[in-house]
Amino acid sequence: MCGIVAYMGEKEAYPILIKGLHRLEYRGYDSAGIALVEQDKDIRLFKCKGKVADLEAFTEGKDVSGTIGVGHTRWATHGIPDDKNAHPHYSENEELVIIHNGIIENYASLKKELINRGHVFKSDTDTEVLIYLIENIRKNENVNLVEAVQMALNQVVGAYAIVILSKNNADLMIGAKKGSPLVVGVGQNHEYFIASDATPIIEYTRNVVYLDDEEIVILERGKEMKIKTIKNQDKTPYIQALEMQLETIEKGGFEHFMLKEIYEQPRSIRDNMRGRLNLELGEVTLGGIIDYQNKILNAQRIIIVACGTSWHAGLVGEYLIEDLARIPVEVEYASEFRYRNPIITENDLVIAISQSGETADTLAAIELAKSKGATIFGICNVVGSSIPRATHAGSYTHAGPEIGVASTKAFTAQVTVLTLMALVFAHKKGTISEAKYRSLLFGLDSIPDQVERMLKLDDKIKYISSIYKDANNFLYLGRSYNFPIALEGALKLKEISYIHAEGYPAAEMKHGPIALIDEEMPVVVIAPNKGAYEKILSNVQEVKARGGKIIAIVTEGDVDVSSLADHTIEIPEVDEELTPLMCVVPLQLLAYHIAIMRGCNVDQPRNLAKSVTVE
Ligand code: AGP
Repeated sequence: MCGIVAYMGEKEAYPILIKGLHRLEYRGYDSAGIALVEQDKDIRLFKCKGKVADLEAFTEGKDVSGTIGVGHTRWATHGIPDDKNAHPHYSENEELVIIHNGIIENYASLKKELINRGHVFKSDTDTEVLIYLIENIRKNENVNLVEAVQMALNQVVGAYAIVILSKNNADLMIGAKKGSPLVVGVGQNHEYFIASDATPIIEYTRNVVYLDDEEIVILERGKEMKIKTIKNQDKTPYIQALEMQLETIEKGGFEHFMLKEIYEQPRSIRDNMRGRLNLELGEVTLGGIIDYQNKILNAQRIIIVACGTSWHAGLVGEYLIEDLARIPVEVEYASEFRYRNPIITENDLVIAISQSGETADTLAAIELAKSKGATIFGICNVVGSSIPRATHAGSYTHAGPEIGVASTKAFTAQVTVLTLMALVFAHKKGTISEAKYRSLLFGLDSIPDQVERMLKLDDKIKYISSIYKDANNFLYLGRSYNFPIALEGALKLKEISYIHAEGYPAAEMKHGPIALIDEEMPVVVIAPNKGAYEKILSNVQEVKARGGKIIAIVTEGDVDVSSLADHTIEIPEVDEELTPLMCVVPLQLLAYHIAIMRGCNVDQPRNLAKSVTVE
């Protein structure tokens, strides 16, 4: 997935585009470019491999004037990251330029047809095929640019969010989307912005329109915006006022977005209970699914689909929902689910979990389940993104923008919502006692303060990080509710520090991984004083006996595991069902500090992007 940004108004476009690209770099950053248009003059296009800062250096001293332009920061899907494959792309006669986020699945056949007609391509990208197709249609069908875009998009199979400019009309900007996000900002005096998300826009205007799939926005200088479908149906723009403030996406005094977001968790967890958890009345209300009570009561099975960290949250959800609401739950990698011809019936309730709301595999899994008659709930962090718009109902995670590529506050927000959902399901079905229900309500209400206390352990965790920062391998062990946390802790470490790390159910160690244990192997053991504590104690003894170095996450006052561990990190005592929300926080900090000590770019780890909007 890539970041796209465009501007047309009275201001100089260049500074707005560059600043916007910096805000979008978390979406992908292997090459960047901009194009600026002035009426009937050649389009000035600058692009290069590397980050936005490299593009700024590249444009130093060049003519970057103009009040209309487009910008793009890329995460390669077609064509390796290099100058020629960077966006924007010219049409063959260089009268048009395009920027694109998504993947044109039938680009090869379209390209072959265009080559047969004598067109010569300059890049390996699917994007260049699209702009050549648009130019070809406009000239051969003798239609205007908007009609040519419509006709071309009707031939396209795949996902796109595009913006197109023409050298022959410096007062026209065309955007279109399907399967990839695109938002239009509406400023004063018909000033317009288009971007992949709102972060480049909100410092100029909070009035935005989220395009729906197969919609085209036609922006003309000084005129009201028009929205049409690719089938040429007129649509009424729905302008909504965004509440997001600019500073919420700044680093807020922290060195990295990831650390800021780890420290935001007391607030974000609290925000996810706001208006949902009512201690006085002793009840949980999830407005987003309130119309589906019967569906929940009669659900034969719940299927959770997600990717990465969201999949780990889904695993915690499985333990919660089965343990508390006694509804069978299956957790599926969306990428596997969509292709394995799964058995899905209208009795199934599918819960799709996604921070970005744009993960292609999760979106496809939703469409598959929907086509088989299942009811789909979403748990998503981005209002107006594709996944919530594809589900029947759901609950947003009110974690605020998560800029760091490694997901932290979104994960604990997802687990919070899943805990609330499990409580709603259990209470409706009468599968837990009133006492247990209230204990969990009060326990959940205390979590933000408990996380606040955990964050005060940061220095101790930083010290432990300094001891193990040079390890080549880590093992993370957990049981029951904290097996998913072992997986999540391992993912956090590997994706930002590039250390190989594996999460395992603690008992599984005897079935292979124990062969890895030696003095060089730090083993993180998640051992709250709940559930199978005695069992995990014996696992700790097995590791100790083989010289493994043990970093134990234990409950305050713990003695047995702590007496064997090389290092302990104490969490406050909470109900077993709530321990995932506590135990994950020190593991986030451990990964963060080790990565920093290893000189890694924690906010933009190599090879990764924040939202995987392609397969
Ligand atoms: C998490 O740290 C990773 N960045 C990644 O695994 C992420 O969770 C996954 O790509 C799913 O993204 P989503 O939640 O936006 O769908």
